[in-house]
Amino acid sequence: MSTGSWSPTWSGTANAREHRAIDKALSRLEPVTFAWDWQALDPHLVGVLRTTWRERMRVEHRSSAVFGQLALQLIEAGAHLDEQVVMMRMAQDELRHTATCAEIVRALGGDLAIDHDLTVAPLATHRGASLVERALRNVIYTTCLSEMVACARFVATLETTTDPMMRAALTRLLSDEALHGRFGFHYLEARADLLRADAALRDSLSRYLMHAFAVIEPELAPAPPFRPLSDDERAFGLEDPELARDLFYATMREAVIPGLERFGLAAEHAFATRRRLA
Ligand SMILES: [Fe+2]
Ligand SMILES: [Fe+2]
Repeated sequence: MSTGSWSPTWSGTANAREHRAIDKALSRLEPVTFAWDWQALDPHLVGVLRTTWRERMRVEHRSSAVFGQLALQLIEAGAHLDEQVVMMRMAQDELRHTATCAEIVRALGGDLAIDHDLTVAPLATHRGASLVERALRNVIYTTCLSEMVACARFVATLETTTDPMMRAALTRLLSDEALHGRFGFHYLEARADLLRADAALRDSLSRYLMHAFAVIEPELAPAPPFRPLSDDERAFGLEDPELARDLFYATMREAVIPGLERFGLAAEHAFATRRRLA
């Protein structure tokens, strides 16, 4: 493990110019300059915002490593070329999100350096599963499950966020996360015939889902006790953890489970009987 202080930095060379050009080309929204008069805000609020966006910066950066590895698994699974390209885009999106978070932390007068384990945890290889199934499992977990919940949480948070720059920040992230959440369902759609024909694959994926639901639940459904948010915190885009918990179950029930069932996966049964498997 290589834990240390890390902060996003820019080289100042032509690579940095290329990075700006890529960011501009990939961005779905007009650029916004974040500039809060943070010294005029409640210091407690500013402290919470800095902590939140520094943590988000760490998570976004880690997500990039997940999608980067998943892109390699898609290559090994013989996925369609467009799927390989979009997965690499998604890895890049997460790096762009890391940069957005850094801009926000800086605009709030915060320190960009974070304690960060630079070691990349290897993506699950699912011993015994074929390369095709391994990719399917990891696509389902990271996009159909995880990114779908992220989208629901961003949308709900935006409803109470009134600060215009914070709304722009959240919308910028959400505009890409919506693609990330849909990716897995499109990936399944491209394999609908395979899934229809291969009962063993469907059974194996359904069994995996039992495990996946059990693993993701504590990760994405915050557990009580919950601290109530102040009006200011809501206005500045902080997330209500109690609502986030409800959203986890609602997203599973109303979007993820029916979405997976369409492809013959026993997602409803898997959720009802979710448990960690060896
Ligand atoms: Fe992201
Ligand atoms: Fe994402």
